[in-house]
Amino acid sequence: MQNVSVIKELHQERFQTAPELFIAPGRVNLIGEHTDYADGFVMPAAIDFATLAAISARRDKQAVIYSENYGEEVSRHFDAIGTRGQHHWSDYPLGVLATLQQEGIPVPGFNLTIYGNVPPGAGLSSSASIEVASMLAMLHLAGTSLPPEKVALLCQRAENNYVGAPCGIMDQFVSCCGAADHALLLDCRSLAYRLAPIPKHISLVICNTMVKHSHAGGEYATRRAEVEEGTAILRRHRPEIRLLRDATVEDLEKWGHEMPSNVLKRCRHIVTDSLRAVAAADALEANDLALLGRLMAQAHISYRDDFEASCKEADIMVELAWKQPGCIGARLTGGGFGGCTVNLVESAEAQEFAAAMAEGYEKATGIKPEIYLSHASAGAHAVEEPAKAGADH
Ligand code: GLA
Repeated sequence: MQNVSVIKELHQERFQTAPELFIAPGRVNLIGEHTDYADGFVMPAAIDFATLAAISARRDKQAVIYSENYGEEVSRHFDAIGTRGQHHWSDYPLGVLATLQQEGIPVPGFNLTIYGNVPPGAGLSSSASIEVASMLAMLHLAGTSLPPEKVALLCQRAENNYVGAPCGIMDQFVSCCGAADHALLLDCRSLAYRLAPIPKHISLVICNTMVKHSHAGGEYATRRAEVEEGTAILRRHRPEIRLLRDATVEDLEKWGHEMPSNVLKRCRHIVTDSLRAVAAADALEANDLALLGRLMAQAHISYRDDFEASCKEADIMVELAWKQPGCIGARLTGGGFGGCTVNLVESAEAQEFAAAMAEGYEKATGIKPEIYLSHASAGAHAVEEPAKAGADH
């Protein structure tokens, strides 16, 4: 990654010390939306857009954090981290620090430089990538490490408690545990996962509607509340239903009439999308791409009509994709209400697909989209010093 040398120099110039570097990717979710906080299944993939974190120790108890994306430095004494963020970009790394402190991990004072290319507010988990990269960096300075599953859980806690966004575990988990050329089917209850290979001839094309979404407020939390309302109604009949993971389509058919219609629809989306995520992993493993495409289409329709988390622009983008040659599957990805669509496209057709999407979407909406050709990538890790060309001559 070209940015590695850039961030290193930035850090060195600003803080006069050589940093250690860590990288954590964003993600696309292939299928299984809003199922994570219901303990259901999801199948995301890490992408080759990522956040880099460069860190070095300080002698005092200050967290000095510079974001190259925002061109801004924030300095905070360890005693003044607090337990809640201030709706600022620095909430993410500071939330990570607060969480590690709560865990009793002795992070020393540090200088941290953050630089990423995950488009923000586009449903590609730029937040999770900042959290995970920052946490690996701080753990390194503390002279310790944690299993990736634990890093994901702590980063989720930072986002829930410090940033104040009620997200599930999916984004942080795949940022930690993703694998190159694979989708990751995650059981969000046990955190057991399996990697399903994405065939080499398929490209991940991500189409940004440019309609921004925000998680900290509004719709995401409303959806969660509706889902909890429906779960409580089912629980009256079957007390063993802790979360919708434990409910079936039959339960909804039997007792759904006791729910307000919007609540029933939200629950039906979650129960069926979780099943579709497992079926999609099976389809990928069996190389049944036609089935995978059908499942993605059903997932989009369910997200649009039952969960009502799509938007006009995303529907236009997805319907346009369905008409293109080489398109295996397409749907809106992520938390909803804008952001990006994920498209599985025959690699030989990917360039033409991207061009047709850009043109067709702009014609239909008047908005110029961004189209990213991506790959399923490795999860977070330390960045090794690239070998200098000709170093031993
Ligand atoms: C956001 C959240 C995730 C998940 C998705 C929807 O990305 O951070 O935990 O709930 O929305 O699937």
